[in-house]
Amino acid sequence: MEKLTGTLALAVCAAALGSLQFGYGIGVINAPQKVIKEHYARTLGFPVPDAHDNATLPDGDDTQKSTLTMYWSLSVAMFPVGGIISSFLVGFVADFRGRVKGMLVMNVLSVVAGLLMGLAKMGYPHIMVIMGRAIMGFYCGLSSGLVPMYIGEIAPVKYRGALGTAHQLAVVTGILISQVLGLDFLLGNDELWHVLLGFSGAIGILQSLLLPLCPESPRYLYIKLGKKEEACRSLKRLKGDYDTSKDIAEMQAEKEEAMKEAKISIWRLLRAEQYRQQLFVALTLHLSQQFSGINAIFYYSTSIFHTARVAQPVYATIGVGVVNTVFTLLSVALVDRAGRKTLLLIGFGGMCVCALGMTIGLVNLNKYTWMSYLSMTAIFLFVSFFEIGPGPIPWFIVAELFSQGPRPAAITLAGFCNWTCNFIIGMCFPYIEKLCGTYVFIIFMVLLAGSTTFTALRVPETKGKTFKEIAAVFQKHLPAAQAEVETELQQLKSSSEA
Ligand code: GLC
Repeated sequence: MEKLTGTLALAVCAAALGSLQFGYGIGVINAPQKVIKEHYARTLGFPVPDAHDNATLPDGDDTQKSTLTMYWSLSVAMFPVGGIISSFLVGFVADFRGRVKGMLVMNVLSVVAGLLMGLAKMGYPHIMVIMGRAIMGFYCGLSSGLVPMYIGEIAPVKYRGALGTAHQLAVVTGILISQVLGLDFLLGNDELWHVLLGFSGAIGILQSLLLPLCPESPRYLYIKLGKKEEACRSLKRLKGDYDTSKDIAEMQAEKEEAMKEAKISIWRLLRAEQYRQQLFVALTLHLSQQFSGINAIFYYSTSIFHTARVAQPVYATIGVGVVNTVFTLLSVALVDRAGRKTLLLIGFGGMCVCALGMTIGLVNLNKYTWMSYLSMTAIFLFVSFFEIGPGPIPWFIVAELFSQGPRPAAITLAGFCNWTCNFIIGMCFPYIEKLCGTYVFIIFMVLLAGSTTFTALRVPETKGKTFKEIAAVFQKHLPAAQAEVETELQQLKSSSEA
């Protein structure tokens, strides 16, 4: 019997508050860019940009301009730096005291980060914001691994797909909330921007109050710790009073399967020829997701809309958040019907065309005023195409491409790759924009054309396939190498048994 109980709903929602903070951290820095930069300028004794100036180009001499750009880029980009570092610790935190305790303890980071940013006006705001963003990013790097892991482990098979998307849905909701709160008559103004940034700490406090009410993952309790009684209690809390023997037998089978396969370290995974193709596909998809330029929109859309002469850039940014949420819901409905490859192709291909549309709009702005609408429409469609496939799919396809042994190492590497590219975009976009001007999206267009071609040629369809069938797609090219690695694995197993 698989029921959606109140406890299960509570556990999913409480965990997803971690993903909500991830989304909030991505979106929050966007709308208040101008007021915060002005505040930095005042603290540093630089001239404050005038109201009609482009938010990215304040007055002042060149050194002051570049110092300000540097502090701002760091405020944006320290978030992914934190994520890059902590993405390596996900496995350790998850297994140390369990998923729930891991998420709970990590909230200390979220609250500390919230306090640093919330109190930024009392000290050196640029330093406190940069530190707060780095710690928040560290927290989010952990939650972007722990939350999908916990939800995936507690979800009954029947609801696993739908509940599995709770992570990306919470991410996009977090982005939307940050955009709404960032409106200048709410918190995105000179008086309250520090409250806006610090608010994520409050979500951390709420999560800390809810997590103690959530059951630990039965898979962790049984497969990792071998505690059958506790696993049964946890299952009953999540699914209602029922006969747990079928679930326990299924976990036992997974435990035996896991013991058959040697655990592969990151280093070994990087060197093993057998997994090279899968790893290449997984990492390229994460590279493609980030180098599509999506976070250039989420970090900087207000300033991009400003350049495109949209009358109310902040409202347009909120529009982006709404479209983003709606299309994530659409992807939830489509992903198990249309298949991963089709949605990735439509997504990357569509984004490529939109990048061209944005460029034509921005370049011709001075000739025709209606070009502003073209740019705006292209940005909205760009985000829609992203959420149809390239947004959610890379996060869960890695688990589908790898079997039990190399899966944790592959997820760690993919997370590291994703956060690193997120950092590169956050840090470099203002500089590239300065260099390329209105042609900046041409770079993303070229990269997106590459991602579309790559998807068409190299990404296998994983929909409805078992892990064995997926592995077979990759291994048919590598009989010799496969035999070699299998022998290696066999040796590893026998040495660990000895
Ligand atoms: C995905 C990306 C993240 C991006 C978000 C936008 O989760 O990994 O970087 O900001 O989608 O919805």
